[in-house]
Amino acid sequence: MSSLTPASPAAPEPPPGSPVGNPAAEAVLTEAGEEVHTARTLADARPPAEEEILAVRDLTVSFPTDDGLVRAVRGVSYTLRAREVLGIVGESGSGKSVSSMAVMGLLPRGARVEGSILYRGRDLLTLRPRERRSLRGRKIAMIFQDPMTSLNPVRSIGDQLAEAVLAHRLVPRRQALARAREMLDLVGIPQAERRLGSYPHEFSGGMRQRVMIAMAIINDPDVIIADEPTTALDVTVQAQILEKLLEVKDAVNAAILLITHDLGVIAGMAHRTLVMYAGKPVEVGRTDEVFYRTRMPYTAGLLGSLPSLDGARGERLRPIGGTPPSLINLPAGCPFSPRCPLADAACREREPDLVPDGGDAGHLAACHHSDRLAAAEDPTAFFAAAASAPPANDPASNDTASNDTAEEA
Ligand SMILES: Nc1ncnc2c1ncn2[C@@H]1O[C@H](COP(=O)(O)OP(=O)(O)O)[C@@H](O)[C@H]1O
Ligand code: SF4
Ligand SMILES: [Mg+2]
Repeated sequence: MSSLTPASPAAPEPPPGSPVGNPAAEAVLTEAGEEVHTARTLADARPPAEEEILAVRDLTVSFPTDDGLVRAVRGVSYTLRAREVLGIVGESGSGKSVSSMAVMGLLPRGARVEGSILYRGRDLLTLRPRERRSLRGRKIAMIFQDPMTSLNPVRSIGDQLAEAVLAHRLVPRRQALARAREMLDLVGIPQAERRLGSYPHEFSGGMRQRVMIAMAIINDPDVIIADEPTTALDVTVQAQILEKLLEVKDAVNAAILLITHDLGVIAGMAHRTLVMYAGKPVEVGRTDEVFYRTRMPYTAGLLGSLPSLDGARGERLRPIGGTPPSLINLPAGCPFSPRCPLADAACREREPDLVPDGGDAGHLAACHHSDRLAAAEDPTAFFAAAASAPPANDPASNDTASNDTAEEA
């Protein structure tokens, strides 16, 4: 076995200067424990430029409901540079989709949004609806998890792609169709000319997702938001689609926000990684930093729950016990404290800020005890220790044994 997803921080140090900085560049090891090799990797992709395309600042999104205010996104900030791939990872319900829908301007009516979303310096949250619509699908495009919900089943692929062009440009239909064919070619659909006349149901899942990629890039966007783009696909197809995403990003010079619940997908794909928990970023940095110099227990928990590289294939190491907190009634202090093996009284008192970890300038973590992770040889081991020896009836401690109360907290 040559190079693999760095599921364990005990893996060898990445070679200096490598684009992702970790040996994952040639393979993706998915949650299912299957290793899929991708021919094209970040190492082949063009590096990010300095230019900032998107700057999200202190974004908060909440939804008033009958049960109370759902605080889905509680202060998300990040910057996306031209051609950069930023991975956003976190368990289901951590606010990944809601924060990206805010960028797209597709939140349901009633959502309360604060902060700013600067696209090339202009705050999208202050734009008029018409201006917003004009950017959507043209400069900022989205690929959803399930193409069937985004494609119209009764219209041909060619029609739908051409329409995406015509929605933003005054060109003859013939020209729009030519662009559609060019895009199908680019995303690797054989016999593109003929397939323009096909309907979505005539394509396999992977092919439909390629069509969605074609749709996303057809107007040369600056930003592609890919929300769990491969979750519904089998692992081989998943690798091909991810590879294709990297390829098209360079073809149209776009940056990608790659959203996933699977850290294994991020490994060979993202220049930088932002880990979200309970609506907030809890660790962010270059992907190699986040994987190899983990400073937040939740990230360590995610790494530890990836399948073992040296153990049996597909075997999960140690899933994080418990469930994410209610976003209506967040626990006091650090929201991860009910599940964190390192939690103490200070953790339950005050939510930690996202601060520099003291090493790489862009590496930030939100944890009162990140120094303990820095000192640990293998931060994922904290979870193993908690699982094997839960402190009994100790109200001052918080561990997997107290997870039952996580939702009530
Ligand atoms: N329209 C809505 N009304 C109330 N709650 C919502 C709405 N949309 C999303 N949420 C809640 O916001 C939280 C974050 O959701 P989401 O961003 O979709 O999570 P994920 O990280 O899985 O993409 C979840 O708890 C979800 O239930
Ligand atoms: S602040 Fe405390 S509870 Fe939160 S992640 Fe760090 S150690 Fe765990
Ligand atoms: Mg989601």
